[in-house]
Amino acid sequence: MTHLSVNLNKVALLRNSRGADNPDPLQAATQVLDAGAQGITLHWREDERHTRRQDVIEIAALCRARGVEFNLEGDLRPALIDCALEVGAHQCTLVPVRPGELTSDHGWPLPAAASALTPAIERLRGGDIRVSLFIDPREESIAYVGGLGAQRVELYTEPYARAFGTPAQAAALDALRACAARARAQGLEVNAGHDLDLHNLPTLVTSLLVDEVSIGHALVADALVWGWEKTLSAYLAACRGEPCTPPRTRRQHQP
Ligand code: PXP
Repeated sequence: MTHLSVNLNKVALLRNSRGADNPDPLQAATQVLDAGAQGITLHWREDERHTRRQDVIEIAALCRARGVEFNLEGDLRPALIDCALEVGAHQCTLVPVRPGELTSDHGWPLPAAASALTPAIERLRGGDIRVSLFIDPREESIAYVGGLGAQRVELYTEPYARAFGTPAQAAALDALRACAARARAQGLEVNAGHDLDLHNLPTLVTSLLVDEVSIGHALVADALVWGWEKTLSAYLAACRGEPCTPPRTRRQHQP
């Protein structure tokens, strides 16, 4: 079964745009868990443009109290690793950050990043935190992960999402399938994330075994139309491979 971890960064982004406390990511986290999500993800960037350190502390505590997984995403800066250890994150997903990027748009370059990753992985594992590495869906990269000490990979699904519904879809899915098989052969578990939505999620989870998806942008956008409860019910069904009709109809772009 594929678990759904809901990324609440977009709720924090909306809050930050007015500088006060509305909407409240902690309240959103409570509602999302009430609606059945198996976990919460926050990507805590150094510039705090969405999630802030205080959000991480509060939502990690909520997840602990509710007995669900808290997944902290971020780069290798010491403050991020310290914070994951301090709040007792269940999982830390290490993600490379390129200055100026709009959102995460690439996995770790391996083997080049191996020496930077290893000390962080050791520290996190020493604190009993599961480590997942964000990786491009290329078998060459996956081949290096097993030796680094991480327990999971998160496959970057933006190329699949972009290819979805086009003639390139089959090749994008094949790449993910091959990476997942290569990861499992090394004893790694497999997460997936980025640009997943109600259109492309059922096909993904029925095409390969995925332990957890982390979904933010599309899910929060759908919740603006449907509310949390109906949205979570649809995404949980999609995680079981059930086809869903999203609330959003794609607009035709004018030439
Ligand atoms: N996985 C990683 C590593 C991410 O950085 C993000 C965005 O913060 C996501 C998954 C979620 O992507 P999306 O918002 O497109 O669902």
